[in-house]
Amino acid sequence: MKNKKNERRGKFIVFEGLDGSGTTTQSKLLGQYLEKQNWPVLNTSEPTQGPMGLILRLLLTNRLIFNGRPSEQGNQELEILSNSSIALLFAADRLDHIQHTILPKIQDGVIVICERYYFSSYAYQMGKSSKNLKWLTTINSRCIQPDLTIYLNTSLAVCNKRRFTNRWYQDLYEKPEILEQVAKNYDYVVQNMKKKMPVEIVDGTPNEKVVFEKIIHIIQNHFPEMFPNNPTLFTDNAQS
Ligand code: TMP
Repeated sequence: MKNKKNERRGKFIVFEGLDGSGTTTQSKLLGQYLEKQNWPVLNTSEPTQGPMGLILRLLLTNRLIFNGRPSEQGNQELEILSNSSIALLFAADRLDHIQHTILPKIQDGVIVICERYYFSSYAYQMGKSSKNLKWLTTINSRCIQPDLTIYLNTSLAVCNKRRFTNRWYQDLYEKPEILEQVAKNYDYVVQNMKKKMPVEIVDGTPNEKVVFEKIIHIIQNHFPEMFPNNPTLFTDNAQS
Protein backbone atom coordinates (compact mmCIF):
# COMPACT_ATOMS: atom_id res chain seq x y z
CA MET A 1 0.00 0.00 0.00
CA LYS A 2 1.27 3.49 -0.80
CA ASN A 3 2.11 5.95 1.98
CA LYS A 4 1.90 3.44 4.81
CA LYS A 5 2.43 5.34 8.04
CA ASN A 6 5.61 3.56 9.10
CA GLU A 7 7.05 3.15 5.65
CA ARG A 8 10.58 4.62 5.55
CA ARG A 9 11.45 5.51 2.02
CA GLY A 10 14.11 8.16 2.54
CA LYS A 11 17.31 7.74 4.53
CA PHE A 12 18.46 8.95 7.89
CA ILE A 13 22.18 9.73 8.09
CA VAL A 14 23.77 11.16 11.23
CA PHE A 15 27.11 12.91 11.76
CA GLU A 16 28.74 12.77 15.16
CA GLY A 17 31.95 14.12 16.64
CA LEU A 18 33.57 16.54 19.03
CA ASP A 19 33.00 20.27 18.69
CA GLY A 20 35.42 21.26 15.92
CA SER A 21 35.56 17.74 14.44
CA GLY A 22 34.06 18.85 11.11
CA THR A 23 30.46 17.64 11.43
CA THR A 24 28.99 20.93 10.16
CA THR A 25 31.28 21.10 7.12
CA GLN A 26 30.87 17.43 6.20
CA SER A 27 27.08 17.33 6.60
CA LYS A 28 26.74 20.38 4.37
CA LEU A 29 29.10 18.90 1.76
CA LEU A 30 27.17 15.63 1.75
CA GLY A 31 23.85 17.47 1.43
CA GLN A 32 25.09 19.53 -1.53
CA TYR A 33 26.59 16.46 -3.14
CA LEU A 34 23.41 14.38 -2.87
CA GLU A 35 21.30 17.28 -4.13
CA LYS A 36 23.50 17.37 -7.23
CA GLN A 37 22.64 13.69 -7.66
CA ASN A 38 18.99 14.81 -7.68
CA TRP A 39 18.12 13.51 -4.24
CA PRO A 40 15.79 15.54 -2.04
CA VAL A 41 17.86 16.40 1.03
CA LEU A 42 17.20 17.97 4.39
CA ASN A 43 20.13 19.14 6.52
CA THR A 44 19.14 19.40 10.15
CA SER A 45 20.83 19.42 13.55
CA GLU A 46 20.43 18.98 17.29
CA PRO A 47 19.76 20.79 19.50
CA THR A 48 16.92 21.99 17.26
CA GLN A 49 15.10 25.31 16.89
CA GLY A 50 12.12 23.74 18.73
CA PRO A 51 10.95 24.64 22.25
CA MET A 52 13.34 22.33 24.11
CA GLY A 53 16.14 23.16 21.69
CA LEU A 54 15.83 26.86 22.46
CA ILE A 55 16.27 26.24 26.19
CA LEU A 56 19.28 24.07 25.40
CA ARG A 57 20.82 26.80 23.22
CA LEU A 58 20.49 29.26 26.12
CA LEU A 59 22.15 26.75 28.38
CA LEU A 60 24.95 26.01 25.92
CA THR A 61 25.74 29.69 25.44
CA ASN A 62 25.77 30.28 29.21
CA ARG A 63 22.72 32.56 29.10
CA LEU A 64 20.50 30.44 31.34
CA ILE A 65 21.30 32.12 34.62
CA PHE A 66 20.88 30.35 37.95
CA ASN A 67 19.50 32.76 40.51
CA GLY A 68 19.72 30.55 43.60
CA ARG A 69 21.85 31.03 46.68
CA PRO A 70 25.17 29.28 47.07
CA SER A 71 25.00 26.28 49.39
CA GLU A 72 25.85 26.58 53.10
CA GLN A 73 29.21 25.09 52.30
CA GLY A 74 29.81 28.16 50.18
CA ASN A 75 29.85 26.07 47.03
CA GLN A 76 29.81 28.54 44.13
CA GLU A 77 29.89 25.79 41.55
CA LEU A 78 26.15 25.22 41.61
CA GLU A 79 24.73 23.62 38.54
CA ILE A 80 22.10 25.51 36.60
CA LEU A 81 20.65 22.16 35.57
CA SER A 82 21.88 18.74 36.59
CA ASN A 83 23.45 16.50 33.98
CA SER A 84 20.37 14.25 34.18
CA SER A 85 17.97 17.15 33.54
CA ILE A 86 20.10 18.24 30.59
CA ALA A 87 20.05 14.68 29.23
CA LEU A 88 16.25 14.60 29.51
CA LEU A 89 15.93 17.93 27.70
CA PHE A 90 18.12 16.66 24.85
CA ALA A 91 16.04 13.46 24.67
CA ALA A 92 12.79 15.48 24.63
CA ASP A 93 14.17 17.78 21.94
CA ARG A 94 15.12 14.71 19.91
CA LEU A 95 11.65 13.14 20.16
CA ASP A 96 10.12 16.44 19.07
CA HIS A 97 12.61 16.60 16.19
CA ILE A 98 11.69 13.05 15.11
CA GLN A 99 7.95 13.69 15.30
CA HIS A 100 7.88 17.05 13.54
CA THR A 101 10.77 16.85 11.10
CA ILE A 102 12.77 13.65 10.73
CA LEU A 103 10.01 11.05 10.34
CA PRO A 104 7.72 13.08 8.06
CA LYS A 105 10.66 13.88 5.80
CA ILE A 106 11.88 10.28 5.66
CA GLN A 107 8.35 9.16 4.86
CA ASP A 108 8.36 11.69 2.01
CA GLY A 109 11.45 10.06 0.54
CA VAL A 110 13.91 12.72 1.69
CA ILE A 111 17.54 12.01 2.68
CA VAL A 112 17.71 13.50 6.17
CA ILE A 113 21.24 14.44 7.23
CA CYS A 114 21.36 15.22 10.92
CA GLU A 115 24.25 16.80 12.75
CA ARG A 116 24.31 15.16 16.19
CA TYR A 117 21.82 12.66 17.53
CA TYR A 118 21.74 10.29 20.48
CA PHE A 119 25.48 9.47 20.44
CA SER A 120 26.00 13.14 21.38
CA SER A 121 23.86 12.65 24.48
CA TYR A 122 25.73 9.46 25.33
CA ALA A 123 29.15 11.08 24.94
CA TYR A 124 28.44 14.54 26.41
CA GLN A 125 26.03 13.62 29.22
CA MET A 126 27.71 10.37 30.30
CA GLY A 127 30.24 12.16 32.49
CA LYS A 128 33.03 10.02 33.85
CA SER A 129 31.08 6.80 34.42
CA SER A 130 30.14 4.48 31.59
CA LYS A 131 27.43 3.12 33.93
CA ASN A 132 25.37 6.18 32.93
CA LEU A 133 25.12 4.86 29.38
CA LYS A 134 22.36 2.42 30.31
CA TRP A 135 20.08 5.17 31.57
CA LEU A 136 20.93 7.44 28.63
CA THR A 137 20.00 4.70 26.17
CA THR A 138 16.77 4.09 28.09
CA ILE A 139 15.61 7.72 27.84
CA ASN A 140 16.44 7.66 24.13
CA SER A 141 14.88 4.27 23.45
CA ARG A 142 11.89 5.75 21.59
CA CYS A 143 14.12 7.47 19.05
CA ILE A 144 14.31 5.92 15.61
CA GLN A 145 17.62 4.35 14.65
CA PRO A 146 19.66 6.09 11.93
CA ASP A 147 20.37 4.14 8.73
CA LEU A 148 23.98 5.19 9.21
CA THR A 149 25.96 7.14 11.80
CA ILE A 150 29.28 8.61 10.70
CA TYR A 151 31.60 9.39 13.58
CA LEU A 152 34.27 11.92 12.71
CA ASN A 153 37.20 10.88 14.82
CA THR A 154 39.23 14.07 14.91
CA SER A 155 42.08 14.54 17.36
CA LEU A 156 41.29 16.80 20.26
CA ALA A 157 44.26 19.04 19.41
CA VAL A 158 42.91 19.65 15.91
CA CYS A 159 39.36 20.26 17.23
CA ASN A 160 40.65 22.78 19.76
CA LYS A 161 42.71 24.57 17.13
CA ARG A 162 39.79 24.76 14.67
CA ARG A 163 37.41 26.08 17.33
CA PHE A 164 39.78 28.68 18.68
CA THR A 165 40.63 29.84 15.15
CA ASN A 166 37.04 30.09 13.94
CA ARG A 167 35.29 31.64 16.95
CA TRP A 168 36.02 34.08 19.76
CA TYR A 169 33.50 32.45 22.17
CA GLN A 170 33.26 28.87 23.43
CA ASP A 171 30.07 27.00 24.37
CA LEU A 172 29.37 25.25 27.67
CA TYR A 173 31.14 22.01 26.78
CA GLU A 174 33.82 23.53 24.60
CA LYS A 175 36.61 23.42 27.13
CA PRO A 176 39.65 21.23 26.41
CA GLU A 177 39.38 19.34 29.74
CA ILE A 178 35.66 18.56 29.22
CA LEU A 179 36.19 17.57 25.60
CA GLU A 180 38.99 15.22 26.64
CA GLN A 181 36.44 13.23 28.65
CA VAL A 182 33.84 13.51 25.87
CA ALA A 183 36.40 12.12 23.38
CA LYS A 184 36.94 9.07 25.62
CA ASN A 185 33.18 8.67 25.96
CA TYR A 186 32.69 8.84 22.19
CA ASP A 187 35.29 6.07 21.74
CA TYR A 188 33.47 3.92 24.27
CA VAL A 189 30.04 4.65 22.82
CA VAL A 190 31.07 4.05 19.20
CA GLN A 191 32.75 0.73 20.04
CA ASN A 192 29.70 -0.33 22.01
CA MET A 193 27.04 0.80 19.56
CA LYS A 194 28.64 -0.36 16.33
CA LYS A 195 27.73 -3.92 17.34
CA LYS A 196 24.08 -2.89 17.35
CA MET A 197 23.66 -0.45 14.46
CA PRO A 198 25.45 0.80 11.34
CA VAL A 199 28.31 3.06 12.45
CA GLU A 200 31.34 4.17 10.44
CA ILE A 201 34.40 5.83 11.90
CA VAL A 202 36.17 8.36 9.69
CA ASP A 203 39.45 10.04 10.54
CA GLY A 204 38.42 13.70 10.61
CA THR A 205 41.92 15.11 11.01
CA PRO A 206 42.96 15.55 7.33
CA ASN A 207 41.65 18.43 5.23
CA GLU A 208 37.93 18.58 4.41
CA LYS A 209 38.29 17.33 0.84
CA VAL A 210 40.13 14.15 1.88
CA VAL A 211 37.60 13.49 4.65
CA PHE A 212 34.70 14.08 2.30
CA GLU A 213 35.98 11.61 -0.28
CA LYS A 214 36.12 8.93 2.40
CA ILE A 215 32.56 9.77 3.34
CA ILE A 216 31.37 9.43 -0.26
CA HIS A 217 33.00 6.00 -0.43
CA ILE A 218 31.11 4.97 2.69
CA ILE A 219 27.78 6.35 1.45
CA GLN A 220 28.20 4.50 -1.84
CA ASN A 221 28.97 1.25 -0.06
CA HIS A 222 26.10 1.53 2.38
CA PHE A 223 23.49 2.71 -0.06
CA PRO A 224 24.35 1.27 -3.50
CA GLU A 225 20.67 1.61 -4.45
CA MET A 226 21.12 5.38 -4.38
CA PHE A 227 23.68 5.32 -7.18
CA PRO A 228 22.37 2.81 -9.74
CA ASN A 229 23.71 4.58 -12.83
CA ASN A 230 26.79 6.21 -11.53
CA PRO A 231 29.66 3.98 -10.45
CA THR A 232 32.34 6.71 -10.68
CA LEU A 233 31.45 9.42 -8.27
CA PHE A 234 34.82 10.52 -7.08
CA THR A 235 36.67 13.73 -7.69
CA ASP A 236 40.21 13.79 -9.12
CA ASN A 237 42.21 12.91 -6.02
CA ALA A 238 39.92 10.29 -4.53
CA GLN A 239 41.57 7.88 -2.13
CA SER A 240 41.13 4.18 -2.34
P1 TMP B 1 26.93 22.51 18.02
O1 TMP B 1 25.63 23.06 17.55
O2 TMP B 1 28.06 23.46 17.83
O3 TMP B 1 27.22 21.14 17.56
O4 TMP B 1 26.80 22.45 19.61
C1 TMP B 1 25.91 21.66 20.25
C2 TMP B 1 26.48 21.34 21.60
O5 TMP B 1 25.52 20.57 22.31
C3 TMP B 1 27.76 20.52 21.56
O6 TMP B 1 28.67 21.01 22.52
C4 TMP B 1 27.32 19.14 21.98
C5 TMP B 1 26.12 19.41 22.85
N1 TMP B 1 25.14 18.32 22.85
C6 TMP B 1 25.00 17.56 24.00
O7 TMP B 1 25.69 17.81 24.98
N2 TMP B 1 24.09 16.54 24.00
C7 TMP B 1 23.29 16.26 22.93
O8 TMP B 1 22.47 15.32 22.98
C8 TMP B 1 23.45 17.07 21.75
C9 TMP B 1 22.57 16.79 20.55
C10 TMP B 1 24.37 18.08 21.75
